[in-house]
Amino acid sequence: TATFDLSRSLLAWYDRHARDLPWRVSPADRAAGVQPDPYRVWLSEVMLQQTTVAAVRDYFLRFTARWPDVRALAAAPDDQVMAEWAGLGYYARARNLLKCARAVVDQHDGRFPDSHDALLKLPGIGPYTAAAIAAIAFDRPETVLDGNVERVMARLHDIHDPLPKSKPLLKAKAAALTPDDRPGDHAQAVMDLGATICTPKSPACGICPLRDPCQARAAGTQADLPRKMPK
Ligand code: ADE
Repeated sequence: TATFDLSRSLLAWYDRHARDLPWRVSPADRAAGVQPDPYRVWLSEVMLQQTTVAAVRDYFLRFTARWPDVRALAAAPDDQVMAEWAGLGYYARARNLLKCARAVVDQHDGRFPDSHDALLKLPGIGPYTAAAIAAIAFDRPETVLDGNVERVMARLHDIHDPLPKSKPLLKAKAAALTPDDRPGDHAQAVMDLGATICTPKSPACGICPLRDPCQARAAGTQADLPRKMPK
């Protein structure tokens, strides 16, 4: 089907151009079937909730050097974790981070649960983060919808309804594109595409793996999408 080809194009692009991020598995390891560490996926997603990839990178490296697994983090004194978090902002995230680490140790024997519903019950994990962890760490076919994914879907399907009204439609489009094969890599591929090629201003359509099926490119509307309701 057309959807199948689209996600195949995206995965082929991701295999060549995935961003090298410290919480990801290297391409060689990925090809050998190595799965990402759920602790590292969770920590990165919580840090990325309101902060850019560029800002998160060094914090992530310091955290994982000091607390390499969820048991180590759960045992850390609160003030040391808060000090290590300083500068990332939104300090409720750091407090929930510790609560979550301790809940994983106390309630789940130190292993992150692999389902969206069980993840959602943990402190600091909302619907977006639960979907991201289930997809990326456990290769579940979850739909991960962040700002990057919304933009890619609005352009791919030339959707002119403004955000936030268009969110359910954009989510349905993202869900329809999610493959059974490698859904975790697919989720990260759409995010990377939005971050590096399908950017808000001057998207690099000439080198986009979805340039042929992209309806906004065909209509010349890509720079105007997604539309937003006036505040
Ligand atoms: N933004 C949030 N999570 C991300 C991820 N796993 N990869 C790239 N960008 C992200």
